[in-house]
Amino acid sequence: MLSRTVSELLSQDIVIPELEIKGWVRTFRANRFIALNDGSTINNIQCVVDFNNFDESLLKRITTGAAIQVKGVLVESQGKGQKVEIQVSELEILGDSDAEHYPIQPKKHSFEFLRENAHLRTRTNTFSAVMRLRSSLSFAIHKYFNEHGFHYMHSPIITGSDAEGAGEMFKVTSLDSENPPRNEDGTIDYSQDFFGKETNLTVSGQLEAETYAMSLGKVYTFGPTFRAENSNTSRHLAEFWMIEPEVAFMNLAGNMDLAEDFLKSVIKYILSTNREDLEFLDQRLQDEDKRKPQAERSTMTLIEKLNFVTDNNFKRVSYSEAIDILRNCKPNKKKKFKYLINEWGTDLQSEHERFLVEKHFKCPVILFDYPSNIKAFYMRLNDDGKTVRAMDILFPGIGEIVGGAQREERLDVLKERMAAANIPEEELWWYLDLRKYGTAVHSGFGLGFERLVMFATGMSNIRDVIPFPRTPQNAEF
Ligand code: 4AD
Ligand code: MG
Repeated sequence: MLSRTVSELLSQDIVIPELEIKGWVRTFRANRFIALNDGSTINNIQCVVDFNNFDESLLKRITTGAAIQVKGVLVESQGKGQKVEIQVSELEILGDSDAEHYPIQPKKHSFEFLRENAHLRTRTNTFSAVMRLRSSLSFAIHKYFNEHGFHYMHSPIITGSDAEGAGEMFKVTSLDSENPPRNEDGTIDYSQDFFGKETNLTVSGQLEAETYAMSLGKVYTFGPTFRAENSNTSRHLAEFWMIEPEVAFMNLAGNMDLAEDFLKSVIKYILSTNREDLEFLDQRLQDEDKRKPQAERSTMTLIEKLNFVTDNNFKRVSYSEAIDILRNCKPNKKKKFKYLINEWGTDLQSEHERFLVEKHFKCPVILFDYPSNIKAFYMRLNDDGKTVRAMDILFPGIGEIVGGAQREERLDVLKERMAAANIPEEELWWYLDLRKYGTAVHSGFGLGFERLVMFATGMSNIRDVIPFPRTPQNAEF
């Protein structure tokens, strides 16, 4: 007999005379009602057992967390709270779960506790909803690019160039760490290492994606990236996933249009596919909000926030305009910012970004034309000689969610910028080749996938939107 899923059965309104289903017991009450979940949906199906027909010893083994298989009939429910239920005729325990030791009891657990039990936390409603949304968002991203003529490119995870400068890198080596071969001057001799040179885990697939944009036209990467910064914040991971589209013949304005349309589209997608998960998380957030002081409560519910993003234009603001706003804003004048904004040219901290998004504009913001000295060497220099065609997208509650730019396509200017950043030309000879042979205007951006999942789920710690978070001092599982 074909096994059914809970999601499939809950959408039925006809009697199914014979069915089989497998899942994990969430609760068992009154020796009669099993709430069964199989991960296909946030909802449980109620399985009704008539205890007169089953052994007491079997009933005792129906505990929270146990894996079971039931056979029976799907009927209209006689109780309240569900449309249909299963009248169980046969029940088999597939895997017992010791009720005394099972960590995921049917009660509220703190997110900290669940992080320590990340291997079991998707047995809770919150985490199963978050991870189903993560999966749907990931599909929506591929779908969007596929429907817009992009080719999916797999950029390398091990890289021999560390020139991007996006962050500190993790070394990849097969040398004996106790006793590595050394040069005469005592430094490690990487020519004897696996690749014959120093290699690292990539911080971004952008530079490689540029090579493909300059031949396949429209490409994107979607893969893991690694940064060894010691940023122990609720928005940084050492291993995170990034989506990086790169498009030939597209300028910065086109890049902004693409990013905005793309973000709106993937959010629209989950609003239609994952409604129940979103409604659950929306309610969770409202409950959490009620426990906060009035001033800290959010003015919109989760679903309202998602709709707000899909229905409103992102505000496009130049760095210079933003600096003017920040210089004259209350928290700056009253010295409430940790980093005060005094002059043009200073880098923006997340407190400034959040002020712009959450207090000033109250909508997603695209900041562009940043000072060249606070941005990467590959961003196209503007005619003013001091700003580059960079863009960052800031989201409420998240801060920076996207970073991107129009790329410097002029060989001479790029060489000057590399020299200024102390990047040897030999290291990026292939990147320079793109500017020698058929160079063209091109642009792209990087979306931090976990930051998008945070926004879409209302979760406030990035460790709670990736299955097994890697952060400083933590690589359990
Ligand atoms: O702004 P970033 O560093 O940009 C790049 O890496 C470019 N090469 C992208 C491109 O133009 N193709 O990173 C892009 C995004 C950030 O906006 C942020 O959302 C996310 O990646 N991000 C992180 N997410 C989680 N943990 C971290 N440590 C992150 N660092 C960046
Ligand atoms: Mg950035």
